[in-house]
Order: sequence, then C-alpha cells, then structure tokens
Amino acid sequence: MDRHEWAARTLSVRPGDRVLEIGCGHGVTASYVCAELAAGPREAPARFTGLDRSAKMTAAAGRRNAAHVAAGLAEFRTGAVPAVPAAELAAGRPFDVAYAFNVRLLWTDPAAARAVAGLLRPGGRLSVFFQLPSWSAAAHREVAERAARTLTAGGLAVTADAQDKAVESGYVTARTAPG
Ligand SMILES: C[S@@+](CC[C@H](N)C(=O)[O-])C[C@H]1O[C@@H](n2cnc3c(N)ncnc32)[C@H](O)[C@@H]1O
Repeated sequence: MDRHEWAARTLSVRPGDRVLEIGCGHGVTASYVCAELAAGPREAPARFTGLDRSAKMTAAAGRRNAAHVAAGLAEFRTGAVPAVPAAELAAGRPFDVAYAFNVRLLWTDPAAARAVAGLLRPGGRLSVFFQLPSWSAAAHREVAERAARTLTAGGLAVTADAQDKAVESGYVTARTAPG
C-alpha cells in the first residue's frame, strides 16, 4: 500500500460524506477517496471537492479522476487557503470531512486551519497528513505536535494522532465544535 491509499483508508469516509481535499496535487489520494464515496448513491452537488492553488494541478487531478467528475461525484477547483472561494465549493454546502496531505500550511498556519474549519459542519473533521523526506519517529512527533498546536489555535479540538513507519507518514485529526 502506498501513502495515498493509506491516507484514504485512514480517513474511512462513508458514502454519504461530503469531502474536501486541500492541496490535491495530481489527485492521487483523491482517486482512492472517490472510489470509497462511489459506493454510495449519486447526489448533486459533487460530494468530493479537490482544491489546489495551482490550476495546472486541478486540471491534472480532474483528468486522473475524469470518471468520477463525469459521474457528478467529484469536482476540482482552483483556489488557495486561507482565501478559499467557499461559496463555489460543493455549492456552498458544509463538508463532513476535510484533509490535506503534505500541505505545510495546514500544520503551520492557524489562519489556514481556521479557514478550513469554517467550511466544515459542526462536529466535522480535518485530518492533516504529512510524509517527511527522512523518516524518524522523533521528526514525526515534532511535526505532529506542531500540527496539533496549529489546529488548536485554529479553533479545532484534536481527536487523533498517529504515525505509520511503513509509509513514512503521520497525521493529526481535529474536529470542529459539535452543533
Ligand atoms: C507537496 S504538494 C502535495 C500534493 C498531494 N496532496 C500529495 O500528497 O501528493 C502540495 C500541493 O498543495 C498545493 N498548495 C500549497 N499551498 C496551498 C494553499 N494555500 N491552498 C491550496 N493549495 C495549496 C500545491 O499547489 C501542491 O499541489
């Protein structure tokens, strides 16, 4: 299993979830997440939104996930956190789940975390995944602690934190306040 599939499994999205990926890049993790969402009923607007500040990346992610886009399951939008075009994402509906993989801003900038929190429903979750070039448990712990501080400063409550040496990656998950 590669890190993308590992992240998708870690997220454990359910077919009815509305999911946002920040910094989707080429849309590789997105393809695994969309495969899980595709098991559920079709519904508009799209239940998966991939956001990236680079139009080149959103175009590439759209091509990789063309079948999911054509089926109305996925959309890919160009925009940068924290100045997200909220009304344009999933037609302005709140997300159940948001995540980012290797998007440094999400573990260093409370304003970015707060902006994403504002796109989630009450009790919604944000997972910040990271893979370090040279894996060590201590280096991962340092990033995880920084991510936890950033998410907390962004108004979220940390609920999970783990590392997996097999994919040299870790994550921190936090939730918005319940409604
Ligand atoms: C290192 S790449 C990771 C791509 C993908 N998530 C992965 O794990 O392979 C970071 C991606 O995040 C995007 N990005 C960085 N800062 C961003 C921001 N503030 N808002 C939206 N996208 C951002 C970049 O354009 C790039 O595609």
